[in-house]
Amino acid sequence: MKAIVLEAADKPLVLKEVEKPAMGADEVLVQIKAAALNRRDYWITIGKYAGIKYPSILGSDGAGIVSEVGDNANKQWLNKEVIINPCHNWGPNAGYQNRDFSILGLPENGTLAEYVKVKAEYLYLKPAHLSWEQAAALPLAGLTTFRALFTKGKAKKGDKVLITGVGGGTGTFTLQWAVAAGCRVFVTSGSGDKIEMAKQMGASAGVNYKAQDWAEQLKLMAGGFDVIIDSALGDGFDKLLDLANPGCRIVFFGGTAGNIPPLNGRKIFWKQLQILGTTMGSPDDFKAMVDFVNEHQIVPVVDEVFLLADADKAVRKMEHSTQFGKIVLKTWS
Ligand SMILES: NC(=O)c1ccc[n+]([C@@H]2O[C@H](COP(=O)([O-])OP(=O)(O)OC[C@H]3O[C@@H](n4cnc5c(N)ncnc54)[C@H](OP(=O)(O)O)[C@@H]3O)[C@@H](O)[C@H]2O)c1
Repeated sequence: MKAIVLEAADKPLVLKEVEKPAMGADEVLVQIKAAALNRRDYWITIGKYAGIKYPSILGSDGAGIVSEVGDNANKQWLNKEVIINPCHNWGPNAGYQNRDFSILGLPENGTLAEYVKVKAEYLYLKPAHLSWEQAAALPLAGLTTFRALFTKGKAKKGDKVLITGVGGGTGTFTLQWAVAAGCRVFVTSGSGDKIEMAKQMGASAGVNYKAQDWAEQLKLMAGGFDVIIDSALGDGFDKLLDLANPGCRIVFFGGTAGNIPPLNGRKIFWKQLQILGTTMGSPDDFKAMVDFVNEHQIVPVVDEVFLLADADKAVRKMEHSTQFGKIVLKTWS
């Protein structure tokens, strides 16, 4: 089969002919129709991720058709149109993942290929209203942000929600979930155009985080927030404490702009704030996310679709954060 292979830290991703994956008894083979990128793929290509191995087939997100089913897997999956939950071995605790938890696309070979093997338990029916490209965009960012906003952030109708860096794959999903849930949503972005696009999707307003006084502008616009979803951290993170309403949940799952700066602890305890880390999500979170997509007929925002052969070009696009939504790869020309 054809696959995109990462051969070494300093080499671009290349399209190669490789062995089709050998399936275990409880596994299925999915013929990938479309795959999507996450910033994780970019971090791996620049060597900034734990446990990188070479060669690797990256890709955590994929949608396709089940082409083979292992002896112990449910035969009803054969020929079904599916998406794959990339969060493997979550374990029994809803609150946190097992020690042997892993993410599809490293260490296991991922979806940037014609075929991927996974355990049948990670299959979910593709929402019927979505194209292959839209469905492929859903799994990793959809799961992470759904858990961040609802399971951890406890967002509910009428809450005022702030999403930082709305233009990314996770940012656009958080916006869609929050708008569909009836929250009042404000955003930050490094681009005025992206703020406008977010407003067209239901955001009330937004500010550019590159402005010196972005937090003060937001305070004037919105007052304070009940839930803040952040994936940037960096120097701006301490401003979130001033933007938080008493009892606010500040949830984060990434550090695109750096680490957590020194914080004024008094603000945190006086305002009864919760600062919550989260990663990926449980099988229950994934199921709830897919149900929510079907119920609200949510269509993921796809920024651009590349051919699989152009995967390296697609990953490079992430470097400059010019995308609005997900970057998708399709396996056919
Ligand atoms: N722990 C997990 O389970 C998990 C899951 C998914 C993602 N992540 C992490 O979450 C982050 C976002 O992932 P992604 O896939 O959405 O990445 P992405 O599509 O590359 O988006 C990154 C976004 O970060 C925003 N950004 C950059 N600098 C910023 C700053 N100083 N302040 C605020 N926002 C800033 C930009 O938003 P604008 O374009 O609007 O300027 C950019 O589009 C990454 O660090 C990723 O590794 C973690």
